[in-house]
Amino acid sequence: MKEISQAGFRPGRFSNLNATGQTGEYVAYLEQTGSRLRALSRARYGLLNLSAGDCVLDVGCGLGDDARELSALVAPGGKVIAVDASEAMVEEARRRSKLFGDELQFMVGDAHELEFTDGSFAACWSERVLQHLDDPARAVYQMVRVTRPGGRVVVFEPDHSTLVIDAADRATTRTLVQALADAIRSSWIGRSLFGLFTANGLVDVTIVPTPIMSHSLSDTNALLRLDATARAAIERGLLSEQTVADWFADLKQREASGRFFGCLLCFAAAGTKPRP
Ligand SMILES: C[S@@+](CC[C@H](N)C(=O)[O-])C[C@H]1O[C@@H](n2cnc3c(N)ncnc32)[C@H](O)[C@@H]1O
Repeated sequence: MKEISQAGFRPGRFSNLNATGQTGEYVAYLEQTGSRLRALSRARYGLLNLSAGDCVLDVGCGLGDDARELSALVAPGGKVIAVDASEAMVEEARRRSKLFGDELQFMVGDAHELEFTDGSFAACWSERVLQHLDDPARAVYQMVRVTRPGGRVVVFEPDHSTLVIDAADRATTRTLVQALADAIRSSWIGRSLFGLFTANGLVDVTIVPTPIMSHSLSDTNALLRLDATARAAIERGLLSEQTVADWFADLKQREASGRFFGCLLCFAAAGTKPRP
């Protein structure tokens, strides 16, 4: 079936795109999911409490969609600096931002070691990045460090073990949800955000649970790449080809008859760096 023909793509490879030669697939993935999640992102911008003239950091900017929109929220006089560990992503983000001037800058950088002095930014933003890090706690520490006292830190992350899918074969569903979570380096990040923000001294910490619900197998697959997870599960000997084919056939039937239901819980976390 179409959903299991996209060879090579593994969501977990966002952890180190410099090591993969197939960046095009990851650009396509971000385009596809970004257009679906754009409205949710915009709804969260308010958590940053931005004003004209503010300087904002976007950590793990990908194609730069948020960075471009945030730059409008700090105009006139404001600036957005966007970093990503992937050289290809930074190049692509720059290519898509040619109409922007000095108010928007993209640079290669590691979320674990942000190369900015303490208190450089009015706010720090990161979306769907901490899940891919070896040490998300270190990245939260860094974001808090580079935010000025009184400034805001806002992140958005899924928690892959929370995926529910209504399927006939419960055992296979459980195996695939577990395999999906196992493929993501820090897949429990969603539920960890409150503790990480609090441990790093942020105050007024707000968590906004955000379910992403779908009645379409194709949409769910576009977001979570269940096909790639299933392929990996077959390769690991966790599931047989036939079991996976039967599982997808059941879900396709549910989709065709308007009965498909899937839902992933994500969390936005926002906090304020206290003034001394
Ligand atoms: C799923 S994408 C999200 C991109 C963008 N924030 C968005 O919401 O569309 C994850 C991004 O994190 C970047 N990334 C992974 N590890 C990183 C690290 N250690 N430091 C900075 N960026 C990193 C990847 O290169 C990728 O562009």
